[in-house]
Amino acid sequence: MADTGKTAKLTLDDKTVELPVLSPTAGPDVIDIRKLYAQAGVFTYDPGYTSTASCASSITYIDGDKGELLHRGYPIDQLAEKSHFLEVCYLLLYGELPTAEELEDFESRVTHHTMIHEQMHNFFRGFRRDAHPMATMVGVVGAMSAFYHDSTDINDPWQREVASIRLIAKMPTIAAMAYKYSIGQPDIYPRNDLDYSSNFLRMCFAVPAEEYEVNPILSRAMDRILMLHADHEQNASTSTVRLASSSGANPFACIAAGIACLWGPAHGGANQACLEMLREIGTVDRIPEYIKRAKDKSDPFRLMGFGHRVYKNFDPRAKVMKQSADEVLELLGIENNETLKVAKELERIALEDEYFIEKKLYPNVDFYSGIILDAMGFPTSMFTPIFAVARTVGWVSQWKEMIADPEMKIGRPRQLYTGYTRRDYVDVENR
Ligand code: CMC
Repeated sequence: MADTGKTAKLTLDDKTVELPVLSPTAGPDVIDIRKLYAQAGVFTYDPGYTSTASCASSITYIDGDKGELLHRGYPIDQLAEKSHFLEVCYLLLYGELPTAEELEDFESRVTHHTMIHEQMHNFFRGFRRDAHPMATMVGVVGAMSAFYHDSTDINDPWQREVASIRLIAKMPTIAAMAYKYSIGQPDIYPRNDLDYSSNFLRMCFAVPAEEYEVNPILSRAMDRILMLHADHEQNASTSTVRLASSSGANPFACIAAGIACLWGPAHGGANQACLEMLREIGTVDRIPEYIKRAKDKSDPFRLMGFGHRVYKNFDPRAKVMKQSADEVLELLGIENNETLKVAKELERIALEDEYFIEKKLYPNVDFYSGIILDAMGFPTSMFTPIFAVARTVGWVSQWKEMIADPEMKIGRPRQLYTGYTRRDYVDVENR
C-alpha cells in the first residue's frame, strides 16, 4: 500500500484536518482515518462496513463493477478451468502457484492430516442424533483446540503452519462425520490414496457394507465447487475470523466463529435457502408470483442466490457454476431437472426486470451450487457445511496474513451511542 502524497481535507466547524490517502495495487484509493479521532475528536459511522477497509490484504481482489475476482492476481475463471482445489489452497496460503515438487509436498502434508483424533468421535456422540451438520461443525471445530494443544500458540510460526494444514485437512472429515451422524450411519475414515474431493465424496456417501467407486465427474464438480468458494476477501465470516483472532485467541476457536457466521442465510446459508426456494416455486408458471413478492417492501421475502454486497455486475463464480450445473446434470442424465428449469427461467425474468436492473441484483455463487450438490445426492443441510469446507483455506490464509501483519491491533469498533445519558439509580419501591 503506497502513500499517494495526496490528502483528504475534512472541515468540521472551524477546524480542518488533513488525512493521508493510500493507494492500493488495485481498486479505489483509501482515506487513512486512523488518526481522525486524535486530530478532530470525531468517529466515523459505517454500520456494515459499506465504505470501510478493515485491513490491508494481498490475497484476494474483487472488482464488483466489472464482476472480477482474482486470487493472488489470477482470475477465478482461469483457476476454475486449469487448476484444482489444493493448488488454489497453496496459492492462497503461500502467495504463488506451487512448483510440481511444492505441490506434491503440500498435497502429501494435507493428505496425512485428514484423520481426526480418535477421541473426537466420542465428542460427536454428545450431539442430538438429528443435529444440523453446521451445529455439529461449530462445536467440533471449536473443540479441536482441546485436542491439538501443540498447534494453538499463535506466536509460533511453525504451530500456525501446522494448525493451518490441520484445519484444511480435517474439515472434510469433520463435515462428512457430522453428516453421517445426522443420518445415523457409521463414520467412513479418510483414504490416503484418494484426492481431496474424491475422499470427501467417499466419506459422505460410502458405507462399510459395500464398495464405493468415486465418480470422477462428480469429483471434478466437487473440486470446482470448493475452488469457487475458497476465498472472497473480507466477507462476513472472514471478518469474523479476523476479529476473533485479533484478541490472540487460538485458530480453532476462531475458525469455529467463522463457521457460525457463515451459517446465516444472508451468507453461506443462502445455498440451502436458495434450493429450498426453487423447490417451493416448483414450476416456471409460479415465478412471477415470487418476483412480485421479492419486490414488495412489506414482504420480507428475498430472492435467495441473488444480490451481493460487492458485485454490482455478474458474480464471476455464478457463471462458472451455471456451466458446471449444465455439465453435471447432462453427464448424470438428468438435464430435464425441473429445479434447473425454474432457476434458469427465474434468472432470465429477474435480469429483465426493472427492479433487479436498477438495484444491480445478479445471481451469486449460491444460485446454481445447490442444484449441483442436489444432483450429487447431498441433502440441503449439507450445502453450507460444504461451503465451510471450501472457505476454510480462505479463513486460514487471512488469519495467517493478519497475525504476521505488524500493524495488527485488536479489533475494537467505536459506536454512535443513542441510549440515555447519565441518570441516577431509582430504588425499586419508587419505580
Ligand atoms: N431479493 C430482492 N431484493 C433484494 C435482494 C434480493 N435477493 N438483495 C438485495 N435486494 C434489495 C434490497 O431490498 C435493497 O432494496 P432498497 O434499496 O429498496 O432497500 C437493495 O436491494 C440493496 O440491498 P441490501 O440488503 O442493502 O444490500 P446488502 O449489500 O446489504 O446485501 C445480500 C447483500 C447478499 C445480503 C443481499 O443481496 C441478500 O440478502 N441476498 C439474498 C441472500 C444471498 O443470496 N446471499 C448470498 C451472498 S453470496 C455468497 C456469500 O458471500 O455468502
